[in-house]
Amino acid sequence: MAVQKFRSDNMVLKTLAFSSAIFLFFACSGTSESGSYVEEETSEPMDAKSLYVLHCESCHGLDGDKGTSDAAKLSESTLDDGAIRHMILNGNDKGMMPYKDIITGKGEVNSLVDYVKSLREKK
Ligand code: HEC
Repeated sequence: MAVQKFRSDNMVLKTLAFSSAIFLFFACSGTSESGSYVEEETSEPMDAKSLYVLHCESCHGLDGDKGTSDAAKLSESTLDDGAIRHMILNGNDKGMMPYKDIITGKGEVNSLVDYVKSLREKK
């Protein structure tokens, strides 16, 4: 009787170990599919200037006075923080594209807003 009890306990343990192995397998393969993207999102936020050079310079110019493809001159812009923020996140129908799915790092949009305003002082 005692031996039988031991055996059945052992079976339970084996079954448990087996099913948690399966669970772990699926848990891991589930995250690895989108892993690289998630990693990007949670990586260190970029500084405002690098963000600007990467995403904005091509149209607005390094000093904000370029205006390629009719981009507004940021050095002459009078928008307030909220409007700049809204513009970066949502874009508009005149050629400014939305960045809400692109610039996703913690605090990145806020620092860009400050950077955009700093272009006015450079004049
Ligand atoms: C493909 C070119 C392009 C890129 C890249 C681009 N913009 Fe723009 N942006 C525009 C255009 C065009 C407008 C003007 C829209 C209008 O006339 O209302 C504009 C307008 C703006 C305005 C409003 C200025 C004002 O006074 O009306 C801000 C602020 C701005 N962009 C910031 C940015 C920032 C920050 C980035 C980078 C994250 C960026 N833009 C990237 C084309 C671009």
